[in-house]
Amino acid sequence: QLKVAVIGGGSSYTPELVEGLIKRGAELPVKELYLVDVEAGREKLEIVGALARRMVEKAGADIRIHLTLDRKEAIRGADFVTTQLRVGQLEARGRDERIPLKYGCIGQETTGAGGFAKALRTIPVILGICREMEELAPEAFLLNFTNPAGIVTEAALKYSRVRTIGLCNLPIGLRMQIAEFYGVDASKVQLEMVGINHLNWTTKIVVDGSDVTASFLAKAAGAKGLTMKNISDLEWDGDFLRSLGALPCSYHRYYYMRDEMLAEQLEDLKTEGTRADVVKRVEAELFELYKDPDLAIKPPQLEQRGGAYYSEVAVNLMSSIYNDRKDIQTVNVRNGGLLPFLPDDASIEVNCVVDAEGAHPVQPSNLVGPEIRGLMQLVKAYEELTVEAAAHGDRDKALQALALHPLVGTADLARSILMDILEENKPYLPQF
Ligand code: G6P
Ligand code: MN
Repeated sequence: QLKVAVIGGGSSYTPELVEGLIKRGAELPVKELYLVDVEAGREKLEIVGALARRMVEKAGADIRIHLTLDRKEAIRGADFVTTQLRVGQLEARGRDERIPLKYGCIGQETTGAGGFAKALRTIPVILGICREMEELAPEAFLLNFTNPAGIVTEAALKYSRVRTIGLCNLPIGLRMQIAEFYGVDASKVQLEMVGINHLNWTTKIVVDGSDVTASFLAKAAGAKGLTMKNISDLEWDGDFLRSLGALPCSYHRYYYMRDEMLAEQLEDLKTEGTRADVVKRVEAELFELYKDPDLAIKPPQLEQRGGAYYSEVAVNLMSSIYNDRKDIQTVNVRNGGLLPFLPDDASIEVNCVVDAEGAHPVQPSNLVGPEIRGLMQLVKAYEELTVEAAAHGDRDKALQALALHPLVGTADLARSILMDILEENKPYLPQF
């Protein structure tokens, strides 16, 4: 009988998780589900919590839902703690997306300067949660969804003793997209993924037992639907994919197609605003639906968000740990020498065997070439600097992090953007 604490429980994504827990109740007996939020999220927590209770009741599931602002109460004795919090809510996300755009740089909540700002706000909070877990639930696993998930996970791995695994829905999302492309069940698709969060490459695609990597890459250029809801579906160049020999993830478009993506963002800014503005409208609609006392399922409108299958990822992982299943899942863990060209203590996103002790990375069948290694090392070095900047309030590291990032890349831009970020996030950056 398990206790799960969800930090950021008032999120509009929570019904997705509750649905997953209900569906998989037989293999994963979660008895106590604590949804935790902060004062600013109280109203959302109450609405989404009431819906969660109706869902559980309708399904006849034996899960007790607790709503609380007391994080320690939720963490005490938990088996799993999941983090899906957003420091500063969507307002802060909007600033992360707008500041870089002002300087002609990509404005994205996890990638580039926007993700950097989010990391500065988030890491102190996550390390606070880790301190509480070390004290109140030392055996628990921290399943971190909070973005930038790779950087936040790396901070928890470096600065705490908590058993931490970073999660993203992108690997499972791609598997579903490829399964749909071939008209087969997702269980027939195996992917080998190498990289870091929101920057991973699929180096091998096996469908129904045969390696289709090359032939898939030949078709993928014109294929639609190979992206997440929050990232526009710009077409890959066929020659580029063939010469790369691997499928880049959706977020790679911000690097490999930077100019087109930037043009699109600037255009969107005039018409619909940033992604945060779009998400605010979707959320308002969702919370109106959630309030309906007759609603007792996850409404399909939630699919407008980029987090499709996120509950699958969370529940799969919890279940494989609980059941010592030893299956393969693509998650974020400590490198520990697996990719020899990255630091041992870096977080990487690769295929892992998941058992009762956690997630253990599996050696990829081929070492990646310089075209993949180079970008991975560069962005990882930026991430390393960002972790240090965030953990210690180190302005020098912060400046170097931004100057290094390929989507910023000059000292001048780094300085201007950093000044804006520090200024506009003051209440959330106690470490600076
Ligand atoms: C993708 C990413 C998530 C991210 C989400 C944003 O699925 O993997 O890490 O949180 O998109 O979606 P949103 O609807 O908030 O823009
Ligand atoms: Mn993600």
